[in-house]
Amino acid sequence: MAIKRIGVITSGGDCGGLNAVIKGMARKAYALGIESVIIPNGYAGLYNLVQMDKVVVLNAERVSKIEASLAGSEAGHSRVKISKIDDPDKYNRIKKGLEKFKIDGLIISGGDDTGSVVVDLTAQGIPCVHVPKTMDLDLQPYSVGGDSAINRISVFSRDLKTTGMSHNRVIVVEVFGRYVGHTAFRGGIGAEADCILIPEVPADFDIVYKHMKSTFFARIERSDVNSGTYLIVVAEGLTNASGEMLYDESAGVDAFGHKKLAGAGKYVRQQLEKRLKEDPEVVAFMKRVNMFVPGIYVIPEVREVTPGHLVRSGHSSAYDVNFGYKAGAGSVVLLTKGKTGNTVTGVQGHKILYMPTTEAIKRREVDIEELALFESLGTCFGREAMEFKPELREENRNDRAM
Ligand code: F6P
Repeated sequence: MAIKRIGVITSGGDCGGLNAVIKGMARKAYALGIESVIIPNGYAGLYNLVQMDKVVVLNAERVSKIEASLAGSEAGHSRVKISKIDDPDKYNRIKKGLEKFKIDGLIISGGDDTGSVVVDLTAQGIPCVHVPKTMDLDLQPYSVGGDSAINRISVFSRDLKTTGMSHNRVIVVEVFGRYVGHTAFRGGIGAEADCILIPEVPADFDIVYKHMKSTFFARIERSDVNSGTYLIVVAEGLTNASGEMLYDESAGVDAFGHKKLAGAGKYVRQQLEKRLKEDPEVVAFMKRVNMFVPGIYVIPEVREVTPGHLVRSGHSSAYDVNFGYKAGAGSVVLLTKGKTGNTVTGVQGHKILYMPTTEAIKRREVDIEELALFESLGTCFGREAMEFKPELREENRNDRAM
C-alpha cells in the first residue's frame, strides 16, 4: 500500500532530540509528497484519535515553528501500553481513528516499552516504524536523548562541586537510570566524579567509604585553605550488595506498571553518615583541619541532590539533533519501503540502517569490563577495583552510523 499520510507519535519519557526526529520525519515526508500529522500525547492520543475533531498537519510552515534544539516533544507524551488498556475493542478503536484521519502508517519514537507496542501494533496489521528514543540508553542502538542527558548530568554534577568545596561536603547526585547506568556512568565521568554507582554493580558501601575517606580527607588536608569535596553520581536504580533495587513499597507503580524507587541518593547519604559517625578517626580529622565545632561540626556533611527531570529537559545536544534528524528522515524511507516492525538505527551516507524492533528493544547494560580502565585512573564504582588488562588491536576503518 502506498503511504500518503503518516502519523507521528512520541511516547514514554520525554528527552532531548525528539523535536529533531519530528522535523526530520516531516521534512523527509513532504519532500516525498507525503503528508504527516501529529498524534498527540503518545498512545493515549492514538487510543482517543477517533474522538478528535482534527489533527495538526506538519506542513512546512508548522514544522518551521518547532525548535529542534529544544528538548521535550511537540507531539506530547504519555506512558500507556495499548495491551494494558481495559477495553476489548481497543485495536478496532485505534484502526477507526487511523481511518478517520486517513493515516496509512505510524512513526513512533520511544524506548523499550514503546517499542513493545510497535511490535504489538505491527502484529495487528498497523504499519509502523520505530525511532529509538530514551535518555537511559538501554536499547541496542543509540537512542535520541542519551547524549543530551549525559551532558546535562555532567554539567550539573560538575557545578555542584563549587558548593561542595565551599562547605567541605560530600555531594551525592542522584540521576535517572532505573535498570542501567549508562548516563550516570558517562555523565559522572564527564563531571570527573570520584565515585559512580550504577545498577549493574551492586554497591559495597565499605569500599565507597574507604575511597571517600582517603580521597576527600587528603584533598582537604592538602588544600592551603582546607577546602575539598567528594562527588558521587548514583543512578536511581542503585542495587545493594545482594543485587536488589531499593523499592519504595508504599509508593505504588507508574503508568507503565514499574514499581516506584526509594531514593538512591538518600540511601547513599545514610550509608556514608553511619560510617562517618562510627569511625573514631573522623573527629581527629575534623580537629586537624580546624573544622571541628562541638555539637555542630563533628563529622563532614553529606548532602544528596536530585536534579530529576532537569536532566532530560531544556536543550538537546547537537549530537541528538543530528541523530534525531537522520533517524526521523530514515524512518519515513523505511515506512515507505514497507519495513514495518523495524527500528531505524542510523543513516550512513545513502544507507538507512535498521533492525527488527524485537531486537532493538532488548536491554543493553553497561559493559562492566569498561569500568576497569576508569578504576585504574582512580574512579570508584563501589566494588573491588577490577584489574585493567590492556590488549592491543589495530582498528580498520569501521562503518559506524554516527
Ligand atoms: O524514560 C526513562 C526515564 O527517564 C527513567 O530513567 C526514569 O525512571 C523515568 O523516565 C522517570 O519517568 P517519569 O517522568 O514518567 O516519572
